[in-house]
Amino acid sequence: MSEKSLPIGVALTPLNEDFREDPYPILAKIRDQAPVLEDTELRRFIYSRHDTVKSILRDSGMWSDPRKANPGTFSAEFLGRGMSEHEDPSMLMMDEPDHRRLRSLVSQSFTPAAVEKWRERTRGVVEGVLDGIDSEEFDLIESFAGPVPTIVIAEMLGINPEMRDQFKVWSDVSVVSAFNPFPTEEQQAASEEAYNNLWRFFESEIAERRQNLGDDLLSDMIRAEEDGDKLNEVEMIRQANLLLVAGNVTTTDLIGNGVKALLDNPGQWQALLDDPSLIKNAVEEMLRFDSPVVNSGRIANKDMEIEGCPVAKGESLSTSLAAANHDPEVYPNPTAFDITREDTHHQSFGGGRHLCLGAHLARLEAQEAILGLMRRYPNLKHSERGLTYHAITSFRGMSHFWVAASK
Ligand code: HEM
Repeated sequence: MSEKSLPIGVALTPLNEDFREDPYPILAKIRDQAPVLEDTELRRFIYSRHDTVKSILRDSGMWSDPRKANPGTFSAEFLGRGMSEHEDPSMLMMDEPDHRRLRSLVSQSFTPAAVEKWRERTRGVVEGVLDGIDSEEFDLIESFAGPVPTIVIAEMLGINPEMRDQFKVWSDVSVVSAFNPFPTEEQQAASEEAYNNLWRFFESEIAERRQNLGDDLLSDMIRAEEDGDKLNEVEMIRQANLLLVAGNVTTTDLIGNGVKALLDNPGQWQALLDDPSLIKNAVEEMLRFDSPVVNSGRIANKDMEIEGCPVAKGESLSTSLAAANHDPEVYPNPTAFDITREDTHHQSFGGGRHLCLGAHLARLEAQEAILGLMRRYPNLKHSERGLTYHAITSFRGMSHFWVAASK
């Protein structure tokens, strides 16, 4: 097959059915035949080798702010859509020195030690959600993997439990459109409405917290101070929004994809049931094997050459995390799911300056959720009702995943 016949553009996103169902054979072909693939449809360069992906993400000079990308590129058209010159983007799309300032003001709440304090409460959330499942056949996403991360982040933000359902709807609507390069007018309008509702909601929560500081992330943001510098209200709201957009669907997908990998490999399910101390390594392998985020990216900050191919300043570089995680040069037998794999390092949380801020939290939630589920349902199986993958660009996960259980 020549490079010309390799898929590009939308065919390399979950909007395409083949890619959505199983991206790995497609990505393997690309990694073998065109480790630098010029996607002339969405105007970006796609990189799929592990070492290249790793070095692009860790190159501290690269840009992330779509307003610096050349007009017409993937970054400018799709990520920067609607962004104003005068309004700062979220941390994910910010460059130095603003990125460093913002990240240092919020990172204290996400260190391993800070996150570990939420383990007991996360376990309680998992048990509570499991208690609410009243059927032996259920949709794992709707009944379990969806609610757990939303309730945990809502608790961390100190949000009233009565607001949780509303909160989940707003955050789900925002995320679908935030990562969809081709939203319909209807989706665009729904997303703007959800964003505005969340904005107003956070405004009133912050006003309330200022009167009554507590043990929650909004209070942490109000308290945070570095060298006399503090977050202003707009920054706090944008940051709270980012936590929802970046953290909810991804963690749901990790739990869903992880449980699916275990059910597809019953020997692995049994091994984890027999030795729950394997859970940490198992979650790393789940992240490697079927990453919830399939690609991240950067913008070239100068004319450069990557893998021997020239790239002009301002062009979009798309790093395929899913392809990197299955690179046979780095992972022996990459398509095998093995929770005892010795080296489970992966690119699923990106890297460098923008390395996922919520990585420890996502790990902790997945560890607690999956072990809690297995303890409650040691005989869990796929149900004949099957599963459906969602079509959110850059993400991989299911919207429905039916399982059958006997307690
Ligand atoms: C399994 C779950 C998750 C995955 C796979 C994931 C993945 C990622 C990836 C790939 C990036 C971009 C990294 C880069 O380009 O170098 C990122 C950034 C980020 N993530 Fe996550 N994420 C997850 C969960 C979370 C959670 C639970 C939160 C917070 C509650 C979170 C907050 C963030 C933030 C704030 C950023 C931007 C960091 C920056 O730009 O400095 N993520 N994540």
